Amino acid sequence: MSKVATLEIDGKRYEFPVVEGTENELGINIKSLRGESGAITLDPGFKNTGSCESGITFLDGEKGILRYRGYAIEDLAEKADFLEVAYLLIFGDLPSKEQLEKFYDDIKEQSTVDEEMKKILDGFPKAAHPMGVLSSLTSALVAFNPSCVDVSSEQDMYNAIVKILGKFPVLAAWTLRKKHSLPLNYGDDSLGYVENLHKMMFEKPGKKYEVNQSVIDALDKLLILHADHEQNCSTSTVRMVGSSHAGLFASISAGISALWGPLHGGANQAVIEMLEKIKEDGGDTKKFMAKAKDKDDPFRLMGFGHRVYKNFDPRAKIIKKSADEVLGQLGVEDPVLDIAKGLEKEALEDQYFVDRKLYPNVDFYSGIIYRALGIPVEMFTVMFALGRLPGWIAQWREMRLNKEPIGRPRQIYTGHTHREFQAVDKR
Ligand code: ACO
Repeated sequence: MSKVATLEIDGKRYEFPVVEGTENELGINIKSLRGESGAITLDPGFKNTGSCESGITFLDGEKGILRYRGYAIEDLAEKADFLEVAYLLIFGDLPSKEQLEKFYDDIKEQSTVDEEMKKILDGFPKAAHPMGVLSSLTSALVAFNPSCVDVSSEQDMYNAIVKILGKFPVLAAWTLRKKHSLPLNYGDDSLGYVENLHKMMFEKPGKKYEVNQSVIDALDKLLILHADHEQNCSTSTVRMVGSSHAGLFASISAGISALWGPLHGGANQAVIEMLEKIKEDGGDTKKFMAKAKDKDDPFRLMGFGHRVYKNFDPRAKIIKKSADEVLGQLGVEDPVLDIAKGLEKEALEDQYFVDRKLYPNVDFYSGIIYRALGIPVEMFTVMFALGRLPGWIAQWREMRLNKEPIGRPRQIYTGHTHREFQAVDKR
């Protein structure tokens, strides 16, 4: 028998159907609440609010489970490559060899951007943060690809999807190259998606690009770990903007801006900056632990805590192991890794962190690997965006295919009630 939730307001009872997910999660469907009772729900930060039904990513914050389309993140990180995972997220199943080849061929077909885009990039100061530049360039892509806005058929959507997957790595690489005064380049179709991205970012004029497979493998794994995370801040932004039918590129551009913030994807940059600060300060982790616990001090232990994971972040476990491996393989010694491990150990034993269920999140160790791979700190969040791109696309596509209505939350008004207008000389 289907479950029902009952609500009583001022002695009047209302009944609502309870929706059950395939992993037995329960959601009270309150669609009729306002119509029947006049009341709405109030849930700042949407801590208890489901915005959609989705078949893409499952995560259980209490048990530390993360699965894309049913596959465990541990398996995908170990056995799949990033493009396979992108296909899985977007289209629902792992691709056959032929499907994967066609997908990549279609992406490669779209891996140039209009030369005029270079003028837009040129207008930014060198000091501009790459996330702001990337968001602007992604938005500018709309102007050069107007057919990607009004997409109603699955084929239209597919065309927009392979376009953004082809062009986004070019734009990301260009933001880095501009910052480092390197000539803007294009990729090499004979390389894999991640290797090509790496080449576009780091190829130097006059030097033959040499591949270090350990670097590519580590990068591939990091991108997979970031590829989707259900209805987080940037993904919800993508779905919200997309719900107005603004188009895929505009929606992704908004998602990049949301990801930029230090409480979200920007945390990976903030973590390294924090660890560096601790190192420069003499490495006294206890001092910074005390600051994080002091309610009068705005300092937070960056890379700790998560809205959903209240046990551990499974991505952080994989990344911590990977950090040890990558640094070992590349022969990199980073004193900041020891500070990070020390900080983690102390936090996991500290009552404040234990009581609040604060564990290292995906960003705590990712910056250390990015740095070992030679990626500059200001590009860390761009790397996150590159990884999250398939997730944003998958969520946008699902939202469009489900014909979801435009996102438009309500509010409880707490301002003045009606006031009589006074002319300026009477105020
Ligand atoms: N350091 C110190 N205290 C913290 C931290 C932290 N990193 N995170 C949460 N707390 C404390 C809060 O002060 C609060 O304490 P209180 O109950 O005494 O008031 C309690 O833990 C709950 O924290 P909230 O901020 O209410 O939790 P919320 O779910 O809203 O926020 C968030 C989650 C934003 C991730 C938060 O833990 C945080 O700011 N972490 C640091 C930034 C970070 O690493 N962000 C990356 C998240 S992962 C991602 O986006 C990919």
